[in-house]
Amino acid sequence: MFIDKAQAKYSQLLTKKDWNILAFETSCDDTSVSVVQNGRKVLSGVISSQIAIHNEFGGVVPEVASRKHIENISAVLDEAMKQAGVGYGDIDAVAATYGPGLVGALLVGLNAAKSVSLSLGVPFVGVNHMEAHVCANYISSETLEPPFLCLVVSGGHTQIVAVDSYSEYRILGQTLDDACGEAFDKVSRVLGLGYPGGPYIQNAALDGDPHAISFPKAKLKTGELDFSFSGLKTAVLNYINNHKEININDVAASFQYTAVNDLSSKAMLAAKIYGYKKLAIAGGVSANKLLRETLQKQTKKAGIEFYVPKFEYCTDNASMVACAAYYKLKDGRFDDLSMNADPALDIGQK
Ligand code: KG4
Ligand code: ZN
Repeated sequence: MFIDKAQAKYSQLLTKKDWNILAFETSCDDTSVSVVQNGRKVLSGVISSQIAIHNEFGGVVPEVASRKHIENISAVLDEAMKQAGVGYGDIDAVAATYGPGLVGALLVGLNAAKSVSLSLGVPFVGVNHMEAHVCANYISSETLEPPFLCLVVSGGHTQIVAVDSYSEYRILGQTLDDACGEAFDKVSRVLGLGYPGGPYIQNAALDGDPHAISFPKAKLKTGELDFSFSGLKTAVLNYINNHKEININDVAASFQYTAVNDLSSKAMLAAKIYGYKKLAIAGGVSANKLLRETLQKQTKKAGIEFYVPKFEYCTDNASMVACAAYYKLKDGRFDDLSMNADPALDIGQK
């Protein structure tokens, strides 16, 4: 049985100092493979982006994404092994994202990882994509350790998460409708800018006035740490539809300012309510310069340590998956090959 073999291999690993984990990430539109040593030392990280293909459609087309992952995965794996300068005999465990994400896309990386781990006879570790985003902070900071608070903002999620330990996560607040990244993508599309929207909005905003248009703040009946971005998105769309001439830069800057203000003020409020002295951010939107600068200032003022992933680890990548897998494996947790993709997996869900 595979799991017995993996268990025997794991017992050997416990006597070994350095663990090399090979990881796959294919949850959306990036095909990525990395080799990471001891969770934080990236030996290689290769990403094949499908942005140019999906840009034509203004968003990710799931079937196209799956097909492109299949076409690319072997070459990306070969390149990651080559760049890491290790052989398959040096790989101690294999990991893959198993959710959340697009099911057809997830299955490609998941099955690739299972095949490699079966053929090498090493443990297989299934990783939660949102937990991996949080772990991107460990790669960028040698010293960060739980407990801390993390604002996780991506194309599909907007959550304030308590990271209690390397394996325990609690959602303290989250969006009730659209994710923040989704709003960036939609506004960008309506303004005729490209996909994914975040970097385009950020760029257009450089020449705009953030106070030119006053978009409404979300009013929520639920918890004070929850978010709503559908109202802001609609307000921006209405503004565009109701004005014959618009200044794209002003719309982008005002939208970005409103979204960032909401994210940063709630993250700071959560830190205050729960008494956290360490705040991290993660996910694609954490690459946003205004968000990073705003929280940098606010945390400094409040005497809170602030952690941000390096830009390359904000958006989807397999290095963060390898890091999450390392801490799962350290905990003695690894998976059977019967593990399936789980498109709606929640952070902290066991
Ligand atoms: O984490 P990610 O790469 O994929 C998901 O797991 O969803 O996040 C992608 C999202 C997209 O919505 C994209 O527009 C947004 O992250 N994003 C940004 C920036 N860079 C990427 N949003 C705001 N500012 C950015 N600089
Ligand atoms: Zn992601």
